[in-house]
Amino acid sequence: MNRTLRFLLALLAGLAGLTFVGAAVVQKTTRQWFDEDIALRVRLVATGAGSALLQRWTSQDRVSLEQLLSDIARDERIMAAAACGPDATLVAQTPTFPADLTCLHISERMRAAAGHEVKAVGTPWGMVWELPGGDVQVSAVPMARGDQSVGFLVLVHDLSFIERREAKTRKFVILGFGILAVAASLITVVAARLSRRGFRTELRRFILGKSKDKEFLPIVRDVRELVDRIAAEREMDGQGGAWSPQRLKQTLVRHFPGEKVVVLANREPYIHQRQPDGTIKVMHPASGLVTAVEPVLRACSGVWVAHGSGSADRDVVDQNDHIRVPPGEESYDLRRVWLTPDEERGYYYGLANEGLWPLCHLAHARPIFRSEDWATYQAVNRRFADAVCKESSGDDPVVLVQDYHFALAPRFIRERLPRAVIITFWHIPWPNSERFGIFPWRAEILEGLLGSSIVGFHTQLHCNNFVDSVDRYLEARIDREAMAVIQRGRPALVRAYPISLEWPCQWVTSAPPVAECRKSVFAELGLKPDALLGVGVDRLDYTKGIEERMMAVERMLDRHPAYRGRFSFVQLAAPSRSVIERYQQLDEAVEKLTARINAKFGSEGYRPIILLRAHHEPPTVFRYYRAADFCYVSSLHDGMNLVAKEFVAARDDEAGVLLLSQFAGAARELPESLIVNPYNVDEASAAMVRALTMSAEDQCGRMHAMRAFLAEFNVYRWAGRMLMDAARIRRRATVLGHLDDDIMRLASVPRFRPS
Ligand code: F6P
Repeated sequence: MNRTLRFLLALLAGLAGLTFVGAAVVQKTTRQWFDEDIALRVRLVATGAGSALLQRWTSQDRVSLEQLLSDIARDERIMAAAACGPDATLVAQTPTFPADLTCLHISERMRAAAGHEVKAVGTPWGMVWELPGGDVQVSAVPMARGDQSVGFLVLVHDLSFIERREAKTRKFVILGFGILAVAASLITVVAARLSRRGFRTELRRFILGKSKDKEFLPIVRDVRELVDRIAAEREMDGQGGAWSPQRLKQTLVRHFPGEKVVVLANREPYIHQRQPDGTIKVMHPASGLVTAVEPVLRACSGVWVAHGSGSADRDVVDQNDHIRVPPGEESYDLRRVWLTPDEERGYYYGLANEGLWPLCHLAHARPIFRSEDWATYQAVNRRFADAVCKESSGDDPVVLVQDYHFALAPRFIRERLPRAVIITFWHIPWPNSERFGIFPWRAEILEGLLGSSIVGFHTQLHCNNFVDSVDRYLEARIDREAMAVIQRGRPALVRAYPISLEWPCQWVTSAPPVAECRKSVFAELGLKPDALLGVGVDRLDYTKGIEERMMAVERMLDRHPAYRGRFSFVQLAAPSRSVIERYQQLDEAVEKLTARINAKFGSEGYRPIILLRAHHEPPTVFRYYRAADFCYVSSLHDGMNLVAKEFVAARDDEAGVLLLSQFAGAARELPESLIVNPYNVDEASAAMVRALTMSAEDQCGRMHAMRAFLAEFNVYRWAGRMLMDAARIRRRATVLGHLDDDIMRLASVPRFRPS
């Protein structure tokens, strides 16, 4: 062992001891802070909600007092709350209040602790209480109206939260000291070496991890990994709390100060349609992409570049083809790009929806590739890319390119704005490389996408398929460990970012109560009050398995005659891409199938399948979700499918069952749904029966778990993770770029080395 290593070991041992002592001290201090934090929170509740509490308390309005207590207990750290009278009787409590705690017990302990003196009004008292399910912290605050005592307010705090925080703090302290230890060792050794060798040569070798001394390499790698991990962990969980519009905005401002967000998507979030009476109506398109990305732009502001497809779109824009949206909120710009009918035919209907769409979905539709469509697709991609560059105020905007309509745009944008952060998200599946290989312009599509800083997919499988396609059809270096493709020294990361919804969802917060929804939907559909209802919500698209879904309803009614006359399935089907022949065939097939099943089981006033073939605005769609006993998402192949997530979001009553195709990306995230193979009609019909007979507790347990997941993994997190990954790439590129200019001008090193 050489001298350097011996010295390092001694130094590391010393610092490890220091870490141990440091962690203990920090833990004690943080515990003290948390106790103070609890006392402060109790005081804040007692003063902040004091007058509202007292008013409800003294007016004996138990229901609204309970409501207010439940509102107080919404704080992540407050488990339950109760109001106790002056004689220690219970006045009101939240449903979560532990059964083993009573006002009398608390009053006795409070008096004993204070030497039989009751604490002064507003002064909190507290202690850790042992309960069978685990310890909690109980706080009590005496309350009075004027001189008259009304009793005391009890707050029960979740101690597991503190323990979690302590564990996290401990982890950070240990990691922090760890880094310090490694850094100190490193600096010492580097300093020693610098004194012996030329400063420039050594610094360059050190930063690039190219030192000849083997002992440096693991240390440099470890430091880099530790720093990255801590930065990612801090940002992803500990530090920021739940992902919200505010947190997303802060992330954007912190990492990309002053830079503008430009979304490029074919579909516009608001469509202005001229009505037969001459008025203009604003429509929300049936599009998962819009559902997800619109809240992101509302949070970040910026501009959305899209095809202006509405009949009154041109009438409402300014001279730059801009309009502020959303109507009434006006938080960002919508920039409309106009297409001629020929352009729309070649680019949208032709290449995108007759070529790429069936290529990427395993749904047995034959892709059609026409060279005229390809030429139009290239030209239209260039036009949209130009529009994006025009909308970007600086030379390094953050551009979010959406979907298969714009596979070439990232490269075109990169050519004009080399410093742009381009995050491209592919909303549909990516096929395996063999299937992708049939696409005549496969290399061009891959080259186009690799103009991005990040190419995102919903699942890891689609990332793998994409990287395999690059491997097979392009000359590029692939770093499978970092999931990056490096071309001409510039990397494009390939990452899975499962898309999600805004949370809370605006259409749920504004929806009528569930019972009211059920009543109005049943009345609209002419159903009896005791009827059972399943719902499906889709664009009329052959990938959605609408025929398979109806066949499953038929099989259920065949096998379970008791449901005839009682069960109906309502399908909200938004007409889509109806210029394309395959979509016209589907439309006809669905109508015929509906008629056949209705003729077989229907009767006067009873339709087993109710097909509503029309565009429905979100308030109606959410009313139907809330009215139904189950929702069936039967995609034959789907990137994610946000209908599944919307149904879960809609059910704030924690009732209803989700039946979900195993071929939709959402099935990986919502395992509490009933997962089915939509091609297996027997299995799907059995799942329908299971949904209709599922106990309320089982429904509630499943819904609760799925809702908790969606609340955490919402669309702000989806966008935030992409931004943070992009920021990391830019930071590294910048650091190495500076070194390049400043120190290593003559060194032949790549401009960027992925980690
Ligand atoms: O990712 C698929 C998608 O682009 C989603 O936006 C949406 O589900 C659907 O296709 C919308 O289709 P279109 O914009 O052609 O109506």
